[in-house]
Amino acid sequence: MKGVVLAGGTGSRLYPLTRVTNKHLLPVGRYPMIYHPLLRLRRAGVTEIGLVTSPEHMGDVVNLLGSGSRLGVDLTYRVQDEPGGIAQALGLCESFVGKEPFVVVLGDNILGEDIRDDVEAFAKQARDSSGARVLLKEVHDPERYGVPEFDGDRISRVIEKPANPPSSYSVIGIYFYDPSVFDYIRTLTPSQRGELEISDVSNRYAEKGQLTHGVLSSWWGDAGTFEGLEEANRLARDLVYEELPGVANE
Ligand code: DAU
Repeated sequence: MKGVVLAGGTGSRLYPLTRVTNKHLLPVGRYPMIYHPLLRLRRAGVTEIGLVTSPEHMGDVVNLLGSGSRLGVDLTYRVQDEPGGIAQALGLCESFVGKEPFVVVLGDNILGEDIRDDVEAFAKQARDSSGARVLLKEVHDPERYGVPEFDGDRISRVIEKPANPPSSYSVIGIYFYDPSVFDYIRTLTPSQRGELEISDVSNRYAEKGQLTHGVLSSWWGDAGTFEGLEEANRLARDLVYEELPGVANE
């Protein structure tokens, strides 16, 4: 399965830390933020990865990661000219992804566990039928995230940053889609914040009863705000990727 990591956007919620660098290059634990999604994918056996970032910081990102070989991955880069939203960034990967099911990870999501079982669960789902899969985590502040509403044990829709959350779960930044996602993205219109929303994409599948989900058992952090960055640093403080010899392990 191929993977996509989205690392565009402005990082405006972290100004001035992000004035001269990309949010995804800031430190989380012993590594630059972007290492975490890349290594979680690699550990799940996903090594062919499309990486989207903004033109302002593309040079720094390539300086850090190069071809990806040091991390054991094979990177294909895409430039998102304007920060038009997560779904817009994903749309840039259509030719990279091709006609196969794939996994997307948001570049500011930090996980305490590997996602191999979820990759396998979605590979099986994609063999049996089409559709999408999201991962959930119970949180104390769901209004900060995309929040699932349930009909029995199925997600009936995902609401982006609701004032009155219908559940105490966050849809975390790991999404599994079949290739019809690119047709759905073409039908989206910008939300009130002027972005093509990933929650609207997942809702296309929910409407058809094709959205499955898993629940994350270990910790999870969204490092896109000061509060989230601080929490992610605390959670990832002792996290070491042993497969990276000589990198921050001494
Ligand atoms: O972290 C999980 C949450 O991520 C989900 O619960 C929400 O449903 C989802 O919308 C998203 O919310 P955020 O407000 O945290 O998204 P943010 O704008 O921080 O973007 C997350 C990542 O997506 C960011 O690290 C880089 C990438 N991105 C974002 C935008 C807006 C792009 O590549 N291009 C973009 O234009």
